[in-house]
Amino acid sequence: MKTIIEPFRIKTVEPIRMTTVAERRELLQRVGWNLFGLHSDDVMIDLLTDSGTSAMSAEQWAAVMRGDESYAGSPSFYRFESAVRELMPFRHVIPTHQGRAAEAILFSIVGGPGKIVPSNTHFDTTRGNIEATGATALDLVIAEAHDPDNLHPFKGNLDLERLEALLKERGGAVPLVMLTITNNAGGGQPVSLANVRAVAELAHRYGKPLIIDACRFAENAYFIKCREPGQGERRVVEIVRDLFAVADGMTMSAKKDAFANIGGWLALNDDALAAAARNRLILTEGFPTYGGLAGRDLDAIAIGLHEIVDEQYLRYRLRTNEYIGERLIALGVPIVRPVGGHAVFVDARRFLPHVPPRQYPGQALAVALYEQGGIRSCEIGTVMFGLRPDGTEVEAPMDLVRLAMPRRVYTQSHADYIVEVFAELRERRDALAGYRIAWQPQRLRHFTARFEPLA
Ligand code: F0G
Repeated sequence: MKTIIEPFRIKTVEPIRMTTVAERRELLQRVGWNLFGLHSDDVMIDLLTDSGTSAMSAEQWAAVMRGDESYAGSPSFYRFESAVRELMPFRHVIPTHQGRAAEAILFSIVGGPGKIVPSNTHFDTTRGNIEATGATALDLVIAEAHDPDNLHPFKGNLDLERLEALLKERGGAVPLVMLTITNNAGGGQPVSLANVRAVAELAHRYGKPLIIDACRFAENAYFIKCREPGQGERRVVEIVRDLFAVADGMTMSAKKDAFANIGGWLALNDDALAAAARNRLILTEGFPTYGGLAGRDLDAIAIGLHEIVDEQYLRYRLRTNEYIGERLIALGVPIVRPVGGHAVFVDARRFLPHVPPRQYPGQALAVALYEQGGIRSCEIGTVMFGLRPDGTEVEAPMDLVRLAMPRRVYTQSHADYIVEVFAELRERRDALAGYRIAWQPQRLRHFTARFEPLA
Protein backbone atom coordinates (compact mmCIF):
# COMPACT_ATOMS: atom_id res chain seq x y z
CA MET A 1 0.00 0.00 0.00
CA LYS A 2 1.16 3.52 -0.78
CA THR A 3 -0.26 5.32 2.24
CA ILE A 4 1.89 5.01 5.33
CA ILE A 5 -0.67 5.15 8.10
CA GLU A 6 0.06 6.22 11.66
CA PRO A 7 0.98 2.86 13.23
CA PHE A 8 -1.17 3.42 16.32
CA ARG A 9 -4.72 4.07 17.38
CA ILE A 10 -5.61 6.94 19.69
CA LYS A 11 -7.01 6.01 23.10
CA THR A 12 -6.59 9.24 25.05
CA VAL A 13 -7.01 12.64 23.46
CA GLU A 14 -6.22 16.20 24.42
CA PRO A 15 -8.49 18.86 22.97
CA ILE A 16 -6.94 21.62 20.89
CA ARG A 17 -8.42 25.02 21.72
CA MET A 18 -9.22 26.74 18.46
CA THR A 19 -8.29 30.42 18.34
CA THR A 20 -8.85 33.13 15.74
CA VAL A 21 -6.34 35.33 13.94
CA ALA A 22 -7.65 38.34 15.90
CA GLU A 23 -7.14 36.57 19.24
CA ARG A 24 -3.65 35.48 18.26
CA ARG A 25 -2.72 39.02 17.22
CA GLU A 26 -3.66 40.24 20.67
CA LEU A 27 -1.77 37.42 22.37
CA LEU A 28 1.33 38.16 20.29
CA GLN A 29 1.27 41.78 21.34
CA ARG A 30 0.90 40.76 24.98
CA VAL A 31 4.01 38.50 24.86
CA GLY A 32 6.12 41.01 22.92
CA TRP A 33 6.04 38.81 19.79
CA ASN A 34 8.10 36.16 21.58
CA LEU A 35 6.54 32.71 21.11
CA PHE A 36 8.22 31.36 24.26
CA GLY A 37 5.94 33.71 26.21
CA LEU A 38 2.73 32.06 24.98
CA HIS A 39 0.66 29.75 27.14
CA SER A 40 0.69 26.43 25.33
CA ASP A 41 -3.11 26.13 25.44
CA ASP A 42 -3.18 29.18 23.18
CA VAL A 43 -1.20 27.18 20.59
CA MET A 44 -3.06 24.94 18.13
CA ILE A 45 -0.10 22.98 16.76
CA ASP A 46 3.01 23.11 18.91
CA LEU A 47 6.20 22.43 16.96
CA LEU A 48 8.48 24.23 19.39
CA THR A 49 10.32 21.00 20.21
CA ASP A 50 10.18 17.22 19.91
CA SER A 51 11.69 17.00 23.40
CA GLY A 52 9.54 15.65 26.23
CA THR A 53 6.43 16.09 24.09
CA SER A 54 5.95 12.48 22.94
CA ALA A 55 2.67 10.66 23.44
CA MET A 56 3.32 7.69 25.73
CA SER A 57 1.84 4.34 24.82
CA ALA A 58 -0.64 2.23 26.78
CA GLU A 59 2.28 -0.03 27.72
CA GLN A 60 4.25 2.93 29.04
CA TRP A 61 1.33 4.14 31.15
CA ALA A 62 0.92 0.60 32.49
CA ALA A 63 4.64 0.62 33.35
CA VAL A 64 4.16 3.91 35.19
CA MET A 65 1.87 2.05 37.59
CA ARG A 66 4.55 -0.61 38.08
CA GLY A 67 7.12 2.02 39.04
CA ASP A 68 8.78 1.31 42.39
CA GLU A 69 9.74 4.41 44.33
CA SER A 70 12.35 2.90 46.63
CA TYR A 71 15.26 5.23 47.28
CA ALA A 72 17.86 2.53 46.67
CA GLY A 73 17.83 -0.62 44.55
CA SER A 74 14.40 -0.13 42.95
CA PRO A 75 13.40 -2.82 40.43
CA SER A 76 12.45 0.06 38.13
CA PHE A 77 16.14 0.92 37.91
CA TYR A 78 17.10 -2.63 36.96
CA ARG A 79 14.41 -2.76 34.26
CA PHE A 80 15.69 0.59 32.94
CA GLU A 81 19.33 -0.53 33.07
CA SER A 82 18.67 -3.76 31.23
CA ALA A 83 16.59 -1.99 28.53
CA VAL A 84 19.48 0.42 27.94
CA ARG A 85 22.05 -2.37 27.88
CA GLU A 86 20.01 -4.38 25.43
CA LEU A 87 20.75 -1.66 22.85
CA MET A 88 23.83 0.04 24.24
CA PRO A 89 25.99 -2.47 26.04
CA PHE A 90 27.95 -0.10 28.30
CA ARG A 91 29.25 -1.28 31.68
CA HIS A 92 27.85 1.65 33.68
CA VAL A 93 24.43 3.24 33.16
CA ILE A 94 23.83 6.34 35.28
CA PRO A 95 20.32 7.86 35.19
CA THR A 96 19.87 11.65 35.17
CA HIS A 97 16.81 13.90 35.09
CA GLN A 98 17.51 14.90 31.47
CA GLY A 99 20.26 15.01 28.87
CA ARG A 100 22.00 18.19 29.96
CA ALA A 101 22.47 16.80 33.48
CA ALA A 102 24.45 13.91 31.99
CA GLU A 103 26.52 16.44 30.02
CA ALA A 104 27.10 18.61 33.10
CA ILE A 105 28.36 15.61 35.11
CA LEU A 106 30.62 14.36 32.32
CA PHE A 107 32.24 17.73 31.61
CA SER A 108 32.60 18.67 35.27
CA ILE A 109 35.02 15.71 35.35
CA VAL A 110 36.82 15.82 31.98
CA GLY A 111 36.43 19.52 31.08
CA GLY A 112 38.38 22.50 32.33
CA PRO A 113 40.40 25.46 31.02
CA GLY A 114 42.58 24.66 28.01
CA LYS A 115 40.64 21.51 27.07
CA ILE A 116 39.12 21.09 23.59
CA VAL A 117 36.09 18.87 22.95
CA PRO A 118 35.44 18.13 19.25
CA SER A 119 32.11 16.90 17.86
CA ASN A 120 30.26 17.02 14.53
CA THR A 121 28.10 19.82 15.97
CA HIS A 122 27.55 20.30 19.68
CA PHE A 123 23.97 20.94 20.73
CA ASP A 124 23.72 24.23 22.64
CA THR A 125 23.40 22.64 26.12
CA THR A 126 26.45 20.47 25.38
CA ARG A 127 28.40 23.49 24.21
CA GLY A 128 27.19 25.42 27.26
CA ASN A 129 28.27 22.68 29.67
CA ILE A 130 31.70 22.40 28.03
CA GLU A 131 32.24 26.16 27.99
CA ALA A 132 31.04 26.50 31.59
CA THR A 133 34.15 24.54 32.66
CA GLY A 134 36.44 26.87 30.68
CA ALA A 135 36.95 24.33 27.88
CA THR A 136 36.40 24.91 24.15
CA ALA A 137 33.64 23.16 22.19
CA LEU A 138 34.72 22.59 18.59
CA ASP A 139 32.37 21.72 15.68
CA LEU A 140 33.97 19.64 12.92
CA VAL A 141 31.00 18.67 10.75
CA ILE A 142 31.67 18.04 7.03
CA ALA A 143 31.48 21.08 4.71
CA GLU A 144 28.39 19.71 2.91
CA ALA A 145 26.38 20.33 6.09
CA HIS A 146 26.57 24.08 5.58
CA ASP A 147 24.82 24.03 2.21
CA PRO A 148 21.01 23.72 2.63
CA ASP A 149 20.65 22.37 -0.93
CA ASN A 150 23.37 19.72 -0.80
CA LEU A 151 21.70 16.30 -0.84
CA HIS A 152 24.54 14.38 0.86
CA PRO A 153 22.83 11.43 2.62
CA PHE A 154 24.81 11.84 5.85
CA LYS A 155 25.21 15.55 6.42
CA GLY A 156 25.83 14.88 10.12
CA ASN A 157 29.18 13.19 9.40
CA LEU A 158 32.28 14.44 11.16
CA ASP A 159 35.19 15.66 9.02
CA LEU A 160 37.87 13.01 9.67
CA GLU A 161 40.74 15.05 8.28
CA ARG A 162 40.03 17.97 10.56
CA LEU A 163 39.68 15.62 13.54
CA GLU A 164 42.99 13.96 12.76
CA ALA A 165 44.71 17.35 12.39
CA LEU A 166 43.34 18.38 15.79
CA LEU A 167 44.42 15.14 17.46
CA LYS A 168 47.87 15.38 15.90
CA GLU A 169 48.47 19.03 16.80
CA ARG A 170 46.56 19.50 20.06
CA GLY A 171 45.85 15.90 21.15
CA GLY A 172 47.01 16.55 24.71
CA ALA A 173 44.16 19.04 25.16
CA VAL A 174 41.42 16.67 23.94
CA PRO A 175 39.80 14.62 26.74
CA LEU A 176 37.31 12.85 24.44
CA VAL A 177 35.65 12.95 21.03
CA MET A 178 31.87 13.40 20.73
CA LEU A 179 29.36 12.67 17.97
CA THR A 180 25.75 13.89 17.98
CA ILE A 181 23.34 11.45 16.32
CA THR A 182 21.31 12.79 14.65
CA ASN A 183 22.99 16.16 14.33
CA ASN A 184 20.22 18.38 15.74
CA ALA A 185 21.94 21.74 15.35
CA GLY A 186 22.75 20.85 11.74
CA GLY A 187 19.13 20.12 10.80
CA GLY A 188 18.55 16.65 12.29
CA GLN A 189 20.96 15.13 9.78
CA PRO A 190 22.23 11.57 10.32
CA VAL A 191 25.75 10.24 10.76
CA SER A 192 26.65 7.12 8.77
CA LEU A 193 27.72 3.89 10.46
CA ALA A 194 30.95 4.10 8.46
CA ASN A 195 31.63 7.57 9.86
CA VAL A 196 30.89 6.49 13.45
CA ARG A 197 33.32 3.59 13.01
CA ALA A 198 35.99 5.76 11.40
CA VAL A 199 35.68 8.41 14.13
CA ALA A 200 35.98 5.69 16.79
CA GLU A 201 39.00 4.17 15.10
CA LEU A 202 40.70 7.56 14.82
CA ALA A 203 39.88 8.57 18.40
CA HIS A 204 41.14 5.23 19.73
CA ARG A 205 44.33 5.48 17.70
CA TYR A 206 45.08 8.66 19.63
CA GLY A 207 43.95 7.10 22.92
CA LYS A 208 40.72 9.12 23.19
CA PRO A 209 37.30 7.76 24.12
CA LEU A 210 34.31 8.31 21.82
CA ILE A 211 31.14 9.51 23.56
CA ILE A 212 27.92 9.58 21.54
CA ASP A 213 25.23 12.21 22.20
CA ALA A 214 22.50 9.74 21.35
CA CYS A 215 19.24 11.72 21.71
CA ARG A 216 17.83 10.60 18.33
CA PHE A 217 19.74 7.34 17.87
CA ALA A 218 16.80 5.34 16.49
CA GLU A 219 16.02 7.91 13.80
CA ASN A 220 19.72 7.91 12.91
CA ALA A 221 19.77 4.10 12.70
CA TYR A 222 16.74 4.07 10.40
CA PHE A 223 18.42 6.60 8.10
CA ILE A 224 21.40 4.22 7.99
CA LYS A 225 19.12 1.35 7.05
CA CYS A 226 17.54 3.41 4.26
CA ARG A 227 20.62 5.14 2.90
CA GLU A 228 23.86 3.33 3.68
CA PRO A 229 25.11 0.71 1.22
CA GLY A 230 24.90 -2.81 2.68
CA GLN A 231 22.59 -1.84 5.59
CA GLY A 232 19.18 -2.10 3.92
CA GLU A 233 18.50 -5.71 4.89
CA ARG A 234 19.59 -5.37 8.48
CA ARG A 235 17.33 -4.88 11.50
CA VAL A 236 17.40 -1.46 13.14
CA VAL A 237 18.31 -2.99 16.50
CA GLU A 238 21.40 -4.55 14.95
CA ILE A 239 22.42 -1.20 13.49
CA VAL A 240 21.82 0.48 16.86
CA ARG A 241 24.03 -2.08 18.61
CA ASP A 242 26.74 -1.57 15.98
CA LEU A 243 26.66 2.20 16.54
CA PHE A 244 27.28 1.86 20.26
CA ALA A 245 29.61 -1.15 20.11
CA VAL A 246 32.48 1.07 18.91
CA ALA A 247 31.81 3.87 21.43
CA ASP A 248 33.08 4.23 24.99
CA GLY A 249 30.05 5.95 26.39
CA MET A 250 27.00 8.07 25.68
CA THR A 251 24.92 10.97 26.93
CA MET A 252 21.19 10.68 26.37
CA SER A 253 18.01 12.67 26.66
CA ALA A 254 15.17 10.17 27.09
CA LYS A 255 12.83 13.05 26.14
CA LYS A 256 13.59 12.27 22.50
CA ASP A 257 14.14 8.68 21.32
CA ALA A 258 12.84 6.96 24.44
CA PHE A 259 9.29 8.37 24.22
CA ALA A 260 9.56 9.71 27.77
CA ASN A 261 8.41 13.08 29.04
CA ILE A 262 11.49 13.43 31.24
CA GLY A 263 14.77 11.59 31.83
CA GLY A 264 18.22 10.85 30.52
CA TRP A 265 21.40 9.02 31.31
CA LEU A 266 25.17 8.90 31.09
CA ALA A 267 26.68 5.53 30.16
CA LEU A 268 30.37 4.71 30.33
CA ASN A 269 32.75 1.78 30.06
CA ASP A 270 35.57 3.31 32.07
CA ASP A 271 35.29 2.27 35.74
CA ALA A 272 37.19 5.23 37.20
CA LEU A 273 35.28 7.78 35.15
CA ALA A 274 31.98 6.12 36.10
CA ALA A 275 32.90 6.19 39.79
CA ALA A 276 33.66 9.91 39.57
CA ALA A 277 30.39 10.47 37.70
CA ARG A 278 28.39 8.64 40.39
CA ASN A 279 29.98 10.78 43.10
CA ARG A 280 28.96 13.87 41.21
CA LEU A 281 25.50 12.40 40.57
CA ILE A 282 24.86 11.96 44.28
CA LEU A 283 25.66 15.63 44.83
CA THR A 284 23.55 17.04 42.02
CA GLU A 285 20.91 14.51 40.95
CA GLY A 286 20.37 11.70 43.44
CA PHE A 287 21.31 8.16 44.38
CA PRO A 288 22.68 6.11 41.44
CA THR A 289 19.58 3.89 41.16
CA TYR A 290 17.25 6.82 40.46
CA GLY A 291 19.41 9.83 39.54
CA GLY A 292 16.86 12.61 39.62
CA LEU A 293 13.96 10.53 38.33
CA ALA A 294 11.00 8.77 39.87
CA GLY A 295 10.93 4.98 39.54
CA ARG A 296 7.90 5.34 37.28
CA ASP A 297 9.93 7.49 34.86
CA LEU A 298 12.60 4.78 34.66
CA ASP A 299 9.93 2.21 33.80
CA ALA A 300 8.42 4.47 31.12
CA ILE A 301 11.88 4.83 29.55
CA ALA A 302 12.47 1.07 29.62
CA ILE A 303 9.30 0.46 27.57
CA GLY A 304 9.95 3.50 25.36
CA LEU A 305 13.35 2.12 24.34
CA HIS A 306 11.71 -1.08 23.25
CA GLU A 307 9.08 0.77 21.20
CA ILE A 308 11.37 3.29 19.53
CA VAL A 309 13.30 0.70 17.50
CA ASP A 310 10.09 -0.58 15.90
CA GLU A 311 10.62 -0.22 12.17
CA GLN A 312 6.98 0.48 11.33
CA TYR A 313 7.10 3.37 13.75
CA LEU A 314 10.39 4.69 12.36
CA ARG A 315 9.16 4.44 8.79
CA TYR A 316 6.10 6.49 9.67
CA ARG A 317 8.18 8.89 11.77
CA LEU A 318 10.65 9.84 9.05
CA ARG A 319 7.93 9.87 6.43
CA THR A 320 5.93 12.51 8.34
CA ASN A 321 8.67 15.12 8.05
CA GLU A 322 9.51 14.10 4.51
CA TYR A 323 5.82 14.50 3.58
CA ILE A 324 5.70 18.05 4.94
CA GLY A 325 9.09 18.80 3.35
CA GLU A 326 8.00 17.60 -0.10
CA ARG A 327 4.89 19.73 -0.01
CA LEU A 328 6.75 22.81 1.15
CA ILE A 329 9.25 22.37 -1.69
CA ALA A 330 6.36 22.04 -4.15
CA LEU A 331 5.01 25.36 -2.82
CA GLY A 332 8.38 26.98 -3.41
CA VAL A 333 9.17 27.28 0.32
CA PRO A 334 12.94 26.86 0.73
CA ILE A 335 13.93 24.25 3.32
CA VAL A 336 17.09 22.48 4.44
CA ARG A 337 17.45 19.27 2.43
CA PRO A 338 17.37 16.36 2.84
CA VAL A 339 14.66 16.65 5.50
CA GLY A 340 15.97 15.72 8.95
CA GLY A 341 14.69 13.07 11.33
CA HIS A 342 12.80 15.10 13.90
CA ALA A 343 12.10 18.39 12.19
CA VAL A 344 11.71 20.37 8.99
CA PHE A 345 13.98 23.43 8.90
CA VAL A 346 12.62 26.29 6.78
CA ASP A 347 15.12 28.76 5.31
CA ALA A 348 13.47 32.01 6.39
CA ARG A 349 16.22 34.19 4.93
CA ARG A 350 15.40 32.90 1.47
CA PHE A 351 11.62 32.80 2.07
CA LEU A 352 11.64 36.48 3.12
CA PRO A 353 14.52 37.94 1.08
CA HIS A 354 13.27 41.48 1.69
CA VAL A 355 13.84 41.11 5.46
CA PRO A 356 17.55 41.57 6.28
CA PRO A 357 19.10 39.27 8.93
CA ARG A 358 19.28 42.12 11.45
CA GLN A 359 15.51 42.41 11.17
CA TYR A 360 15.18 38.71 12.01
CA PRO A 361 13.48 36.93 9.09
CA GLY A 362 13.23 33.73 11.19
CA GLN A 363 11.36 35.57 13.91
CA ALA A 364 9.13 37.21 11.28
CA LEU A 365 8.22 33.83 9.80
CA ALA A 366 7.72 32.13 13.17
CA VAL A 367 5.41 34.93 14.34
CA ALA A 368 3.48 34.84 11.05
CA LEU A 369 2.98 31.06 11.36
CA TYR A 370 1.44 31.59 14.76
CA GLU A 371 -0.68 34.55 13.74
CA GLN A 372 -1.94 32.89 10.58
CA GLY A 373 -2.45 29.34 11.85
CA GLY A 374 -1.79 29.05 15.58
CA ILE A 375 1.39 27.06 14.85
CA ARG A 376 4.30 27.52 17.23
CA SER A 377 7.78 26.93 15.80
CA CYS A 378 11.24 28.03 16.82
CA GLU A 379 13.60 30.60 15.29
CA ILE A 380 17.12 29.24 14.88
CA GLY A 381 19.05 32.17 13.50
CA THR A 382 20.15 35.69 14.29
CA VAL A 383 17.85 36.03 17.31
CA MET A 384 19.21 32.81 18.85
CA PHE A 385 22.86 33.14 17.87
CA GLY A 386 23.34 36.82 17.03
CA LEU A 387 24.19 38.29 20.44
CA ARG A 388 27.85 37.95 21.44
CA PRO A 389 28.94 37.91 25.09
CA ASP A 390 30.40 41.43 24.68
CA GLY A 391 26.96 42.73 23.70
CA THR A 392 27.67 43.24 20.00
CA GLU A 393 25.38 41.75 17.39
CA VAL A 394 26.35 39.53 14.46
CA GLU A 395 24.41 37.81 11.68
CA ALA A 396 23.94 34.08 12.21
CA PRO A 397 25.18 31.91 9.28
CA MET A 398 21.54 31.05 8.46
CA ASP A 399 18.10 32.23 9.55
CA LEU A 400 16.04 29.08 9.96
CA VAL A 401 12.68 28.21 11.48
CA ARG A 402 12.46 24.72 12.99
CA LEU A 403 9.21 22.78 12.79
CA ALA A 404 9.98 20.02 15.32
CA MET A 405 7.53 17.11 15.32
CA PRO A 406 6.47 15.67 18.67
CA ARG A 407 6.44 11.85 18.48
CA ARG A 408 3.08 10.08 17.92
CA VAL A 409 1.17 13.31 18.63
CA TYR A 410 -0.08 14.82 15.37
CA THR A 411 -1.78 13.11 12.44
CA GLN A 412 -1.63 13.58 8.70
CA SER A 413 -4.42 16.17 8.71
CA HIS A 414 -2.35 18.27 11.11
CA ALA A 415 0.51 17.96 8.60
CA ASP A 416 -1.79 19.04 5.76
CA TYR A 417 -2.94 22.00 7.83
CA ILE A 418 0.67 23.10 8.44
CA VAL A 419 1.31 23.03 4.69
CA GLU A 420 -1.89 25.00 4.06
CA VAL A 421 -0.79 27.73 6.47
CA PHE A 422 2.49 27.99 4.54
CA ALA A 423 0.53 28.28 1.29
CA GLU A 424 -1.36 31.25 2.74
CA LEU A 425 1.83 32.89 3.95
CA ARG A 426 3.50 32.43 0.61
CA GLU A 427 0.71 34.46 -1.01
CA ARG A 428 1.37 37.44 1.21
CA ARG A 429 5.01 37.01 2.04
CA ASP A 430 5.98 40.39 0.57
CA ALA A 431 3.83 42.00 3.24
CA LEU A 432 5.62 40.21 6.11
CA ALA A 433 7.92 42.71 7.79
CA GLY A 434 10.87 42.30 10.11
CA TYR A 435 11.19 43.05 13.81
CA ARG A 436 13.33 45.07 16.15
CA ILE A 437 14.29 43.95 19.63
CA ALA A 438 12.68 46.23 22.21
CA TRP A 439 14.30 44.53 25.22
CA GLN A 440 16.77 41.70 25.65
CA PRO A 441 18.70 39.98 28.44
CA GLN A 442 22.49 39.61 28.26
CA ARG A 443 22.54 35.91 27.38
CA LEU A 444 20.22 33.39 25.66
CA ARG A 445 18.06 36.25 24.50
CA HIS A 446 15.69 34.18 22.36
CA PHE A 447 13.87 32.88 25.44
CA THR A 448 12.82 36.23 26.90
CA ALA A 449 13.52 39.09 24.45
CA ARG A 450 10.61 41.37 23.54
CA PHE A 451 10.14 42.43 19.94
CA GLU A 452 8.29 45.12 17.99
CA PRO A 453 7.09 44.74 14.41
CA LEU A 454 8.76 47.16 11.99
CA ALA A 455 5.71 47.67 9.81
N1 F0G B 1 21.69 16.89 22.87
C1 F0G B 1 20.88 17.12 21.82
C2 F0G B 1 21.33 16.74 20.44
C3 F0G B 1 19.63 17.73 22.02
O1 F0G B 1 18.84 17.95 20.98
C4 F0G B 1 19.24 18.08 23.34
C5 F0G B 1 17.95 18.74 23.58
C6 F0G B 1 20.11 17.79 24.41
C7 F0G B 1 21.33 17.20 24.12
C8 F0G B 1 19.77 18.12 25.82
O2 F0G B 1 18.81 17.26 26.32
O3 F0G B 1 16.86 18.75 26.84
O4 F0G B 1 17.09 16.50 27.89
O5 F0G B 1 18.58 18.33 28.57
N2 F0G B 1 17.24 19.26 22.66
C9 F0G B 1 15.94 19.87 22.79
C10 F0G B 1 15.52 20.47 21.48
C11 F0G B 1 15.80 20.82 23.93
O6 F0G B 1 14.47 21.15 21.44
O7 F0G B 1 16.18 20.25 20.47
P1 F0G B 1 17.78 17.74 27.47
